[in-house]
Amino acid sequence: MIPNALTIAGVDPSGGAGIVADLKAFSALGAYGCAVVAALTAQNTRAVTGVELVDPAFVRQQIDTLYDDVRIDAVKLGMLGTAPIIAAVADGLVARNRAPIVLDPVMVAKSGASLLAMEAVTALRARLLPLATVITPNLPEAGVLLDRPPPATLADMRDAARALQRLGPRWVLLKGGHLADGPAVDIIDDGERQIELSAPRIATKNTHGTGCTLSAAIAALLPQRSDPIAAIEGAKAYLTAAIAESGSLAVGAGHGPVHHFHALWPASSARD
Ligand SMILES: Nc1ncnc2c1ncn2[C@@H]1O[C@H](COP(=O)(O)OP(=O)(O)OP(=O)(O)O)[C@@H](O)[C@H]1O
Ligand SMILES: [Mg+2]
Repeated sequence: MIPNALTIAGVDPSGGAGIVADLKAFSALGAYGCAVVAALTAQNTRAVTGVELVDPAFVRQQIDTLYDDVRIDAVKLGMLGTAPIIAAVADGLVARNRAPIVLDPVMVAKSGASLLAMEAVTALRARLLPLATVITPNLPEAGVLLDRPPPATLADMRDAARALQRLGPRWVLLKGGHLADGPAVDIIDDGERQIELSAPRIATKNTHGTGCTLSAAIAALLPQRSDPIAAIEGAKAYLTAAIAESGSLAVGAGHGPVHHFHALWPASSARD
């Protein structure tokens, strides 16, 4: 049976991040995509120029109406914006959801814009971390969640991954994309063991939405793989190839998107 994956997040009109990117990742990886909108942004590959939040009661109404009718097999949570929206999502999921949840604790856009109110961090920590099957913080987000400086070395990352796991999620995928140089290393922690996922660092500025794409890919694969580690490894391989193929897209002058359909569309050389 084809899994139904749900993203609850913000809209990026440039299509590289947020709900639009999540739906592309779901589609590329064989999941049917559903979406509950928590926020709208005015955004391109260079900047976020505005944010409109959805009324928390309406976020809840979207969740309830969807679950009234549709079987949901995996959930990805992205930009949620404020504490009241986080509370509405947490209440809705506790009441209705039985599927695994991938939480991407989005705080700051690649362009530098803030996407989560500071008081919302407390709500995210208290309400969402314990519901999550997998959380996927980047290094600055790990620092904020743990109330300490962002991890700056692999040893710091290992320590932070374990500390994050103690905050309630079943698995932590701590993303090392922000480490200064070397390969793109992520750490998986389940409270007992740690696995290092390493991929070559690709020299490109097309990294808009890498985090959104990775978390959505994990959600798409969780119902299709035997265990979460296999889903995370599959998602990381998918993202690395999508970054590597991003040069065949021409979208904006800032941080461009990754190529979500790299494995499905003919190579640009074959099309021209
Ligand atoms: N240049 C790169 N080459 C290969 N992999 C990368 C590169 N940059 C990031 N990654 C990988 O992409 C994933 C996302 O990591 P990153 O730390 O960039 O997340 P993020 O900051 O949440 O992204 P976003 O800005 O989209 O929210 C990780 O698996 C990371 O290792
Ligand atoms: Mg991110």
